[in-house]
Amino acid sequence: MAVALVTGASTGIGEAAAIRLSREPGTELVLVARRQERLRELAESLPCRATYVAVDLTAEEAPERIRQHLEDEHGARLQLLVNNAGAAWRASFAEGGHANVQRHMALNFDAVVRVTEALLPLLRSSAPSAIVNVASTAGRVSRARTGAYSASKFALAGWTDSLYAEEKPHGVHVGLVLPGFIRTEGFPAAELREKALTRWIVSKPEKVAAAIYECGPGGKPERYVPRPYALAAYARILFPSLTRRVLTGGSASSLTTSTGGE
Ligand SMILES: NC(=O)c1ccc[n+]([C@@H]2O[C@H](COP(=O)([O-])OP(=O)(O)OC[C@H]3O[C@@H](n4cnc5c(N)ncnc54)[C@H](OP(=O)(O)O)[C@@H]3O)[C@@H](O)[C@H]2O)c1
Repeated sequence: MAVALVTGASTGIGEAAAIRLSREPGTELVLVARRQERLRELAESLPCRATYVAVDLTAEEAPERIRQHLEDEHGARLQLLVNNAGAAWRASFAEGGHANVQRHMALNFDAVVRVTEALLPLLRSSAPSAIVNVASTAGRVSRARTGAYSASKFALAGWTDSLYAEEKPHGVHVGLVLPGFIRTEGFPAAELREKALTRWIVSKPEKVAAAIYECGPGGKPERYVPRPYALAAYARILFPSLTRRVLTGGSASSLTTSTGGE
């Protein structure tokens, strides 16, 4: 029996990941997010045993509540932790300032680190096991009005690489998933879907769910979704001046979409 915990499971990529994982024989799922009713409905609809913890991941007591739930309901076992919950609130630095950076870091980075810290002993004792951190292509390439979001995802990507090296000897694989534009409640990508020229670059949560599976139990270290988004990350390293010109030119504004968090 493998116990898998998915944060941000009430909608979007997390919900798709939970559905994907529930198809694996013998899986037990733990769903985490704030909206209890959504978690309950999803848990009841899945073909495997699923429990849930309705909690704000930025709350002081969240990591301990989740750890306690795993002890009480799942025998302190954990084979897969998917750190997926996250959000974006678009603003330039001049508008949003440090407060907006702090808001992003609290959910997209600090909460991930705190939950992982609380659950690492369970992951080690349940090894072979895995952690999958859901970052973003914005964790490799930064655009105007997404600086605070990018900072949190760059931090997550850097920390993930380090954790990969540290936990390998303990049998805990650490994978990184970097989605591009994926149509969800929090990231509707409405501006891109309106135009035939950009519609094709928007992908689906199910594709990210498949990548999460590949980077967890499948053992891959890293996946961009869709795969061609990796080219943006390579271009940022190999052609930094050209990348800056493209990202500050006229077409760049069409790549900045409004988010559900705004
Ligand atoms: N969609 C994209 O284009 C895209 C691209 C790159 C990366 N990503 C990343 O993928 C991940 C999932 O995004 P998504 O597109 O699926 O977004 P989404 O549809 O907005 O889902 C976000 C999930 O996180 C949960 N969440 C948000 N704040 C929370 C909090 N304080 N405590 C607990 N749970 C919280 C939400 O549940 P509740 O509201 O019920 O708490 C929801 O289940 C995020 O980390 C995001 O940065 C998304």
